[in-house]
Amino acid sequence: MRKKVTVVGSGFVGSTTAQRIVDMELADVVITDILEGVPAGKALDMCESGPITRTDSRAAGISTNTGDYSATAGSDIVVITAGFPRKPGMSRDDLLKANYNVVKAVVEQIVRHSPECIIIIVTNPLDAMAQAAFKVSGFPKQRVIGMAGVLDSARMSAFVAMECNVSVENVHSFVLGGHGDDMVPLPRYSTVAGIPLPDLLPKERIDAIVDRTRKGGAEIVNLLKTGSAYYAPSAAAVEMVEAILKDKKKILPCAAYLTGEYGINGLFVGVPVKLGAKGVEEIIQIKLTAEENAALQKSSASVRELVSVLGI
Ligand code: 2OP
Repeated sequence: MRKKVTVVGSGFVGSTTAQRIVDMELADVVITDILEGVPAGKALDMCESGPITRTDSRAAGISTNTGDYSATAGSDIVVITAGFPRKPGMSRDDLLKANYNVVKAVVEQIVRHSPECIIIIVTNPLDAMAQAAFKVSGFPKQRVIGMAGVLDSARMSAFVAMECNVSVENVHSFVLGGHGDDMVPLPRYSTVAGIPLPDLLPKERIDAIVDRTRKGGAEIVNLLKTGSAYYAPSAAAVEMVEAILKDKKKILPCAAYLTGEYGINGLFVGVPVKLGAKGVEEIIQIKLTAEENAALQKSSASVRELVSVLGI
């Protein structure tokens, strides 16, 4: 049986997410947008690349400006990228209310047409939008997941690989917490060929990598001027899609709904989770130092603040 993934939003993040899924032949993809023509055009363009890239995954694009989501029915996964993008000088949190309305409207439709799907949230502010999707959908907590830990960890790994002049394949990084300026990169759990970073690099180099990781999204926004990152965010979302569709039981840092783990209750925060066919199949609890735990609590307090502004 062919798998089906809906990608909501045909902007750069949405369209590159769809393209990667099609190129990897993971599933057929439906791209939606409130714009007329754009999702259909991008989907057709992807289909026309299939004979060259050798994929039989199909893409279809639909405009949802009439509120009709029927073409998304029966999706296994729905990746929500729709929302207003971050502009230079704008924090992720500035996007809060505008994007809440977008996510709420989308999730209400998704639930009607794909009641068994797994929702992956990419829209910012990530953790609060995952909380919104969870509340609006009424889905079990296993089936609503936020993307950003994979992205933030990939950024950290890229910086470590550059610093150590090694293959990215040798690097494994872990970033926990909310996808905000106080996210929690964990050097102790980040390794090069199994060797923890503190054994390899002086503290000031690690501090610089941690700082650059925290500001990774803003660094790209400041360079692009008219939008935010999309290559790494889409790659991150698709790593999650693949883990779920192939039931890989892959441990990845994702925003998950915590019910007491890490001393956090009733909130989406980035933690290591096991991703498989059922979505979040397990929340992995790792030992944190007092300092690391304090950073995680601070980051989760920032998420809680946003969530309480929304009253969800
Ligand atoms: C990023 O980190 C904008 O949150 C997005 O690139």
